[in-house]
Amino acid sequence: MKVEPAAALLGDIGVPGVKGISQRGVLLGAIAEGRSELRGFGHAADTDSAIEAVRSLGVEVEEPAADVVRIEGRGLRGLLAPADPIDCGNAGTVLRLIAGILAAQEGRFELVGDESLSSRPVRVEEPLTRMGAHIETSGGRPPVVIVGARLQPIRHRLPVASAQVKSSVLLAGLLAQDGPTVVEEPVATRDHTERMLEALGVRVRRKPHEVAVWPVERLSALSVDIPGDFSSAAPFLVAATLLSGSELRIHGVNVNPTRTGFLDVLGHMGARIAVFNRRRVSGEPVADLEIRSAELVATEIGAADVPRLVDELPLFALAAAFAHGDSVVRGAEELRVKETDRIETVVTALRALGVRITERPDGFEVRGVPARLRGGRMDARGDHRIAMLGAVAGLVSREGVEVGGAESVAVSFPGFWDVLDSVSQR
Ligand code: S3P
Repeated sequence: MKVEPAAALLGDIGVPGVKGISQRGVLLGAIAEGRSELRGFGHAADTDSAIEAVRSLGVEVEEPAADVVRIEGRGLRGLLAPADPIDCGNAGTVLRLIAGILAAQEGRFELVGDESLSSRPVRVEEPLTRMGAHIETSGGRPPVVIVGARLQPIRHRLPVASAQVKSSVLLAGLLAQDGPTVVEEPVATRDHTERMLEALGVRVRRKPHEVAVWPVERLSALSVDIPGDFSSAAPFLVAATLLSGSELRIHGVNVNPTRTGFLDVLGHMGARIAVFNRRRVSGEPVADLEIRSAELVATEIGAADVPRLVDELPLFALAAAFAHGDSVVRGAEELRVKETDRIETVVTALRALGVRITERPDGFEVRGVPARLRGGRMDARGDHRIAMLGAVAGLVSREGVEVGGAESVAVSFPGFWDVLDSVSQR
């Protein structure tokens, strides 16, 4: 796909429902009592993987409208072990969170994923084994074989900041025998799971760097309105900031503070992004965003900032390429085990387009030049966030960007190209 340079971004858009809330809603709906409804569901390959996974466990899922999903829950321990492996596709969130739920179900379950997911560390086997589950991986990677058991509550300190691992342990804790399961996290990660459990009336105790969840006897059905995904809005924040004369509004975006680190960083760099119409929807903060173009200055990002913008670091590299001065990202080694090694893919892709970026073991350094990029050809290597990075790079380039593997945007945002076209001024 060739992305031509744009003059500006003008208009009003919305983005698909939060991927992580859509996935969590499906998984919790599967073990709730009765019919759950998720409105504003962000259909994409990664969220459809959650639907297919629970269907293979005997759960009925209906899609009565384009963005509405209804799930007939089978109760806390009613999932049925399928004969075939459960395919989690490209979705780490589905694999890790469902593992926490299956650890307490009766039967044997095998979780598999695509080539990318099969090369990523699973990381939940240690805590779930300690809770009493029987789990085997292939050297720490999928396939994952789980034989369900009666679980004991544990206290677990996350060795690496990960909302997926935290959520997996908390969901297992929900299904454990009496007593709270506690997860300590050195740096706060996204808290969608905690918020959803609280909204369902589950006993959750939250302290700085620690969350505890008590087991339940039953889980009531969910009724959730899902706001737009900040990570799907992020490419537009960058493009509108970098293209002078832009004026773009993105409506109904989730501004959960555990997710909006990139908004703060862009603000520090000089971006002009107004957050207005703040409201609360189904336990999550929501707002509209208005972006006007601005000149940026360089900044530094360290380990303590990373979880709040982990999925936006590829876009940060592009914003930094336009900023006055040198920017640095440190403490982001976690990027190496995302859908691709995102330190390597970002550096290779942006270098090919003329960005002065250097790889570090735990991040990258960017020398900013406040002028349009040259452009050229880059390869997303099947990574949706890198494909969106390539698209934004094309808009802000002189010669356009040929994005290899552009179709991978469908992992999180299938309508991305149409939305981009609708606001791009050529
Ligand atoms: C996610 C957590 C993050 C993030 C991923 C979605 C989630 O991963 O990168 O895209 O929904 O919990 P880690 O928690 O493994 O860092």
